[in-house]
Amino acid sequence: MKIVLLGPPGSGKGTQCKKIAERFSVQHLSSGDILRQERAKKTEFGKKAQSYMDSGALVPDEVIVEMMTAAMEKASTKGFVLDGFPRTINQAQKLDATLKRRGQKIDAVLNLDANEEIIVKRITGRRSCPNCGAVYHIQNMKPKIDGVCDKCGSSLVQRPDDKEEVVKNRLKTYYAQTAPVIDYYKANIVVYNIDSNKDPDEVASVMFEKLDAFSGIQR
Ligand code: AP5
Repeated sequence: MKIVLLGPPGSGKGTQCKKIAERFSVQHLSSGDILRQERAKKTEFGKKAQSYMDSGALVPDEVIVEMMTAAMEKASTKGFVLDGFPRTINQAQKLDATLKRRGQKIDAVLNLDANEEIIVKRITGRRSCPNCGAVYHIQNMKPKIDGVCDKCGSSLVQRPDDKEEVVKNRLKTYYAQTAPVIDYYKANIVVYNIDSNKDPDEVASVMFEKLDAFSGIQR
């Protein structure tokens, strides 16, 4: 099963992709997480990406496409759920071309929809684990001990691009460059709009209802 999860920053893509990956045994491939790992390792990819990410701009398509193609090649044969990729029409076209060469295609596209006030509160309250990547929120999804990761015990941090002024730029970038990807997919495949303003488990159950139909074919 090959799934694309679209949605603005803070709509809950990472949170919901983890739930999809667990339920359908597919691999969660997050372009943002891979970039942050590359930055932490100070690789060429990471160095190229840093200034774009910190200002809320998109990393150039050629860097991202190469990185995500490599990640998909290594992914489990059960499939993947893409989080944060594709983010431009050019990236979506390159993804389609890569899959077509392998005789594959995207099976389902879900678009998480959340209002801007909620998005800003979610992003500015997010705390992440720099070690294992677990994500929390200071009000909505608190860790058991304040500031400490439940899973690995590391100290939680705020992402540098989660400051309010950068969040505004990320939203501008989303509307200008990523929102058109929804219509790109709508021309070829059913796109399920999911109301992501609700509680994470409610959002997940609506998504699972849509995806169960596809997973039945694969199992
Ligand atoms: P990336 O890491 O992909 O960031 P993003 O798309 O802006 O998404 P976020 O991670 O901010 O939010 P999310 O939707 O995953 O929400 P989450 O589940 O964490 O990209 C970062 C940067 O990398 C980009 O700006 C760009 O520079 C670069 N980049 C990445 N991909 C690229 C590409 N393809 N091309 C070019 N450049 C690229 O939730 C947010 C918070 O809300 C959390 O605290 C969570 O606990 C909470 N929460 C989630 N759901 C709910 C809910 N239902 N109710 C209450 N709280 C919730």
